[in-house]
Amino acid sequence: MAEHLQLTKGLSRAERYVELIPQIRSLVLGETDVIANLANLSAVLKAAFDFFWVGFYLVKGQELVLGPFQGSVACTRIQKGKGVCGAAWKEKRVILVPDVDRFPGHIACSSLSKSEIVVPVIVDGDVRMILDVDSDILNDFSEIDEKYLKQIVKIIAEEII
Ligand code: SME
Repeated sequence: MAEHLQLTKGLSRAERYVELIPQIRSLVLGETDVIANLANLSAVLKAAFDFFWVGFYLVKGQELVLGPFQGSVACTRIQKGKGVCGAAWKEKRVILVPDVDRFPGHIACSSLSKSEIVVPVIVDGDVRMILDVDSDILNDFSEIDEKYLKQIVKIIAEEII
């Protein structure tokens, strides 16, 4: 396991992802426990970007159940199709929300959350979990986050689950 996270100062967000992804790969390759890896991944993304909230919801039966995360207390269960997370699960696609107040049915775990991106982790056609990232800044996420978070989720799908 990589014991030290290299975070060079002054990088753009894209450069930061590029620096991070090989480190994420080596971090998870040395560990077989899913929860341990998801916990470390949440910590890595928090440390790298200081996101307001970052973590995982795991598909358990007909619900998403809160998994490892970094940030404030969050709702523990989300029904399929509900909120941004439930919609990303149902529709099996990334959902990028520039302004959460304009997303019908958004579940506000914190009134400080202003924008959000949700990336499903899909294995053999089934959503197994979702990665949820919240920001306290409006319109904080772009195609750059989508591109690199998808790469991170691919590592989860291929190496962790
Ligand atoms: N906002 C999410 C709920 C999860 S929290 O943001 C941590 C949603 O609408 O699904």
